[in-house]
Amino acid sequence: MIGTRPSLVHWSAPASKPTDIEALFTEHSDWHTYYGSGKAALRDALRLALESSANTAGGNVLLPSYLPDAVLEPVRDCGLEVRQYAITEALEPDLTDLETRVDSQTVALVSVNYFGFPQGAFEDLECLAERYNCVHIEDNAHGGLSFVDGQLLGTRGAIGFSSLWKLLPIPDGAVLFLNEPRLVDAYRPSSLAGTNGHLQTADVQFVCRSLLADVLESNQTLKHSIHSLVTENGLTAATSPPEQRYEAAKTRMSWLSAYVVGEADPVTITDKRRENYRAWVSVFENCPTTTPLFDSLPRGVCPQVCPVRTTDPDRLQRALERYGVGGSHTWPRLPDTVDGNTAYETANRLSRDVIALPVHQHIAAETIVDIGLDLAPTLERLG
Ligand SMILES: Cc1ncc(COP(=O)(O)O)c(C=O)c1O
Repeated sequence: MIGTRPSLVHWSAPASKPTDIEALFTEHSDWHTYYGSGKAALRDALRLALESSANTAGGNVLLPSYLPDAVLEPVRDCGLEVRQYAITEALEPDLTDLETRVDSQTVALVSVNYFGFPQGAFEDLECLAERYNCVHIEDNAHGGLSFVDGQLLGTRGAIGFSSLWKLLPIPDGAVLFLNEPRLVDAYRPSSLAGTNGHLQTADVQFVCRSLLADVLESNQTLKHSIHSLVTENGLTAATSPPEQRYEAAKTRMSWLSAYVVGEADPVTITDKRRENYRAWVSVFENCPTTTPLFDSLPRGVCPQVCPVRTTDPDRLQRALERYGVGGSHTWPRLPDTVDGNTAYETANRLSRDVIALPVHQHIAAETIVDIGLDLAPTLERLG
């Protein structure tokens, strides 16, 4: 069985470790601070970009079309216009499309390091931001522990941020990086910046949920009975609208998250995630209908998931669930302005055909290989 996320129950502070995540950020960035979520960090990043920009009246922000709907909310919260640019099959900005949307009122250009891999067109965006005198924000929500050429992702643009809860067994957490002295000087923390000084009810609730998830994971019969009971009685929670999810994410980082960040060993986590990523790649070797989205796993990358592109996502997902893989999913829930919009064909296609497979540090690579053997007949039938 493969759990959706790393489990707090299976987590233990390593007895000895060469470094921890807080120390890693201190070593590899000029300045950083914590937030409850990537969206909260993005909100303060945009406020800072706006304050330090000449392009204020009717300002706009450019973001990729291949992005979850709620990530647009901080832009609106800052009173800025959302403009989304098309992307290519290589998950890079379509620069022709981007150039038609950027103008003298652009306050910030956002680029994304998808799934923990460095954005290939990073330098092009740097040049464009310089030409239009706006701030380049490196959205590194997926790649909190990834490096490229010895540089920590999130520390390359003027501003960057990483979501930590996507990699660790924690209730919330993100880090904001300011990579230019003028921005550090201009930064004024909002009430969302920093960490809570003590344990709160939400931390305790998270621990209880982790314990329950662990009990259910170890007893699949009980898990399926509860699942049937919940769905048959119409008790499944509908996903709340993006504005509501954003409002809920406007918090400081919890005490529990800060504690784990101060104890977790980034080297072990990265090694394990890379090993599991490679195990999934081996499962789909010689499978023409399902292929990894990235050609290789470059040195320094700590993958968030293993994204694969498949001809029949529904069937593959059903098979994965049947063989006990929790948390495989298509990504993302696109904003209404992008969903079904022919101007953003690639984003729509990727959001349908790409399945993100879990690689977290509490999965044993052998389990992935065994599941691959079970999956083989399904993969042969995918057409
Ligand atoms: C690319 C990207 N950027 C930003 C975010 C926002 O991060 P958070 O969920 O920590 O608010 C997400 C969340 O899924 C994301 O996928």
